[in-house]
Amino acid sequence: MLKTDYDLLPVPTGTLQIARSPASGSRLNPVTVRDSLTDPLHFSLIIPTYNESGNIARIVSRLTELLDHGLPGDYELIVVDDDSPDRTWEVAQALIPDYPQLCVMRRQQERGLSTAVIRGWQVARGEILGVIDGDLQHPPETLLQLLATMDDGADLAIASRHVDGGGVSTWSASRRFLSRGAQLLGLIILPRVVSRVSDPMSGYFLVNRSAIADVPLSPIGYKILIEVIGRGQIDQIREVGYVFHERTTGESKVTWKQYTDYLQHLLRLRIDSGRLGRLSRRLHFPVGRFLRFGLVGLSGLTVDMAALYLFYEVIGFGLTRSAILAAELAIINNFYWNDRWTFRDIAQQQSGWQRMVKRFLKFNLICIMGLILKILLLNLFFNGLQMNAYAANLLAIAIVTFWNFWINLKLSWRVTQVK
Ligand code: GDD
Ligand code: MN
Repeated sequence: MLKTDYDLLPVPTGTLQIARSPASGSRLNPVTVRDSLTDPLHFSLIIPTYNESGNIARIVSRLTELLDHGLPGDYELIVVDDDSPDRTWEVAQALIPDYPQLCVMRRQQERGLSTAVIRGWQVARGEILGVIDGDLQHPPETLLQLLATMDDGADLAIASRHVDGGGVSTWSASRRFLSRGAQLLGLIILPRVVSRVSDPMSGYFLVNRSAIADVPLSPIGYKILIEVIGRGQIDQIREVGYVFHERTTGESKVTWKQYTDYLQHLLRLRIDSGRLGRLSRRLHFPVGRFLRFGLVGLSGLTVDMAALYLFYEVIGFGLTRSAILAAELAIINNFYWNDRWTFRDIAQQQSGWQRMVKRFLKFNLICIMGLILKILLLNLFFNGLQMNAYAANLLAIAIVTFWNFWINLKLSWRVTQVK
């Protein structure tokens, strides 16, 4: 195992938001024993990696050769590795002595291409922020053209496979079909964003820090570019053609999950950028998230009612015991969907089953308080106001749903500050 003692970058936690001014405070680079100055650099390039130990040295060398020539001393390369099993982060760390402008971040709590890029941008010092794949499928040479378009006033410069000079190498017909299909889906669901560029799937682009600063980002999966266009203040977009090369080492991490993530991402951006998003901003209340919580609550209601019928009518338990058992089944159902959907972006920052169990116990506790409230309300409505048992149950659940959402939101679905 390679041993190196050059510092890894600190891993940001909490909201995925880029600061308007570059990361303050200096980063001591022991090799050059110089404080990297706190005043900003011109350019920070993120290289997100997962199992790229066979590629990382080559891409760092190629990028350094290019940028030492084009931007001497005014750029940085930031490798953001998600604790790769092939220890890419360690291979990259060992390169630091030869590449003083190289920094490495090893994430162990969070995973995912898009959030890796944003965490890298959060610690970056550049006025221009960029991303390039770590597997040399994005030719580094295109960078100089992208930088030139940024210097010409673009807010966003994208390396595109679908403009003059662009293309893909020997892609299979199915991969081409899937890529174009994803683009078509984007044009249907989110035309306002996807129609602005020829290659919305591109993972190779530069953006002005000011265009995406102070905006909470919440991407899902791979497609960081639609997140930037969808939530940033992007006016001028330029595209530069490039040919997407074949991999020589390692393999693509794209699976079916990236496609379902992409669909969820499009829907989330559609909701957040539509009337609901504007209403949320006006009310300072996460209407979209509350609707998702409500929909999950509806599924829990179905589970609760069906279980109540099973325990009360079929098995013959008393009403209170039946209601408690039914409610606990509904709580388990609701936790599962809230953790995977309503609060997914927060849950994703706290990986590991222990944290999930802690989130479940906390959610259960909050819901048990809600359950006590529900039983009290149910008996008040049923015995006190002589309401029908099911109508009383329904009204009690509605009141408790709002209670549960508000408490979970205020406690921000977080069990521990993500380290
Ligand atoms: N940190 C981190 N975490 N990096 C990741 C992860 C992850 O979960 N998944 C993939 N990466 C890194 C890979 O190591 C590689 O450097 C880069 O992200 C792209 O991953 P690939 O798995 O090689 O994706 P691809 O080649 O199929 O598609 C790429 O190019 C397309 C065209 O630009 C991706 O960038 C796509 O988003 C893009 O559309
Ligand atoms: Mn690739």
